[in-house]
Amino acid sequence: MNYDELSKLKFEQLKTKKNVLILSIESSCDETSIALVENGRNVLSNIVSSQIDIHKLYGGVVPEIASRNHIQNISTVLNDALIDAGKNLSDIDAVAVTFGAGLIGALLVGVNFAKTLAYSLKIPLIAVSHVHGHIGANYISHKDLKPPFTCLMVSGGHTALVDVQDYCKFNLIGTTVDDSVGECFDKVARVLGLSYPGGPNIDKLAKQGKNVIKFNYHSPLKNSLNFSFSGLKTAVVNYVHNKEQKGENFSKADVACSFQELAVDELFSKAIKGCKYKTLVVAGGVGANSRLRERLSNNQADINVYMPELKYCTDNAAMIGSIAYYYIQAGKGLADLTLTATPTVNIND
Ligand code: KG4
Ligand code: ZN
Repeated sequence: MNYDELSKLKFEQLKTKKNVLILSIESSCDETSIALVENGRNVLSNIVSSQIDIHKLYGGVVPEIASRNHIQNISTVLNDALIDAGKNLSDIDAVAVTFGAGLIGALLVGVNFAKTLAYSLKIPLIAVSHVHGHIGANYISHKDLKPPFTCLMVSGGHTALVDVQDYCKFNLIGTTVDDSVGECFDKVARVLGLSYPGGPNIDKLAKQGKNVIKFNYHSPLKNSLNFSFSGLKTAVVNYVHNKEQKGENFSKADVACSFQELAVDELFSKAIKGCKYKTLVVAGGVGANSRLRERLSNNQADINVYMPELKYCTDNAAMIGSIAYYYIQAGKGLADLTLTATPTVNIND
């Protein structure tokens, strides 16, 4: 039997296997991560090798440097993931990998590594969408969580509301018409002179804010489930530039806090309005924002809110291993050795 025939057969067998151990790989941006996840919920290991300190020097991720560092790190990360889990390569049932969305060169490192592993171990290769992975993070943090629910997807690349009808049935009900919220946090941080990644630094500085600043801004899409962040970003950047040009003093903490309130308000109001099952699930890096978490936890709309633990909000391979298990159950994602990377994905696919 050749590899394709064997992997199809094993993929079918995994649907009914009692314990499915997936080795998952994530390399879409600046974290090289490999995890071992059992039955979609039980994380045996999750190694995340972050390149933040390298990219900080440039104020953001440099794609070529990210790819080179993934190549340098990935074998060590694999070794550590196996040791941490107390498993051998022969214990693995399938290899799952993020194939998009993300930086193409960075993704290709993970995809090619995954292909080599799957082929040499003669086991199925599962191609996973990064955005679905962020949703999967919640199945790790909340063992009782099951679809259907509404998902607020807030990452560096995406800002969306998704109707998650089943584990692998996604329907986009709202999306940003311009920038993602993560991009907006990172840009505002940059103009305030805070280091990359900006989101966590804005979050921290905002706690010291005392006065509300009224930026020249009104949320433009009040009656829609779509989001907009470019107007807010421009208003804050203009405020800071104006103050600097006039040589006037201003409080960076007040800017961070006032900006964060408006950004969180845009997310909160749309999420509550668009939540149709009384269960709201948060996914993606901005889901680590303390003010967003506080607002959602204290919502008065009688909506149960699930958020991943902080370590599973930002990019990691465990979330890819989690959703890959449900891909297999749904007969989705089996890839062959022609699999390649893609910079964008459609959330519904
Ligand atoms: O999901 P993620 O790790 O990567 C993508 O898939 O894009 O999200 C990264 C984004 C960055 O924009 C980062 O600044 C933001 O998440 N972020 C935060 C916080 N932690 C990470 N934004 C606001 N507050 C935070 N605490
Ligand atoms: Zn991500």
